[in-house]
Amino acid sequence: MIIAISHQKGGVGKSTIAWNLALALQKKYDVELVDLDIQKTLTYTNEIRKNQTKYNPLKIKTFQSAENLKRYINSDSDEKLSIIDLGGFDSTMNRIAIITADLVVTPVSDKSFELLGLKSFEGILSQLNKLIEGDLKVKVLLNNINPQKSKLGKLKTFIEKSKHFELLDTVLRTRVDYDKSAGAGKSVMEYKKDSKAASEIKALVKEVKKILDI
Ligand SMILES: Nc1ncnc2c1ncn2[C@@H]1O[C@H](COP(=O)(O)OP(=O)(O)O)[C@@H](O)[C@H]1O
Ligand SMILES: [Mg+2]
Repeated sequence: MIIAISHQKGGVGKSTIAWNLALALQKKYDVELVDLDIQKTLTYTNEIRKNQTKYNPLKIKTFQSAENLKRYINSDSDEKLSIIDLGGFDSTMNRIAIITADLVVTPVSDKSFELLGLKSFEGILSQLNKLIEGDLKVKVLLNNINPQKSKLGKLKTFIEKSKHFELLDTVLRTRVDYDKSAGAGKSVMEYKKDSKAASEIKALVKEVKKILDI
């Protein structure tokens, strides 16, 4: 099974979300994290994790060519859960992952430039959809949202009207623990079990499991 964390825009939280999902799900499933981020954020974060004997590091794969990624995806099975952290740019590898994934999650914040980024991502999805003559659906995850903010007006309306986007129920708010935990090589749950960030990730994991029926 394949979960792709995707957005052609950088800095929206793809690596943060891939990291926390992978660590939460690896307790129960055979998880492989595919690091396609050119900055190799999670490969380095996993190196920090390896220094702590208490925690199991992630199994991380990287691919240099679209062919190799295709081969890997074709060998996918129900017993394995691959979480792909895509680069914040448009590329053949990213497009392959989007088309083949069982679930595509796109993090987006409510900052003013985000709506533009999401619109241009929709353009890519629309092109891909024509290519595969399918019904490409991407789950949008509101991330890095001010904890005090309740209304998400324009952004929410755009997502709800879009042909390719569907909004996840879970919302991840702006919390320092997301950065601090990753810096320590841990998930938000391992970092502080009862934090708000931990309960947000738990809600996300639950929602993802329900969608994939796992
Ligand atoms: N919900 C959040 N609250 C606070 N900081 C966040 C949140 N999500 C992401 N960040 C921070 O934003 C920055 C970019 O996140 P990252 O996951 O690297 O994005 P991407 O992989 O899309 O480029 C990081 O410093 C990360 O810690
Ligand atoms: Mg990243």
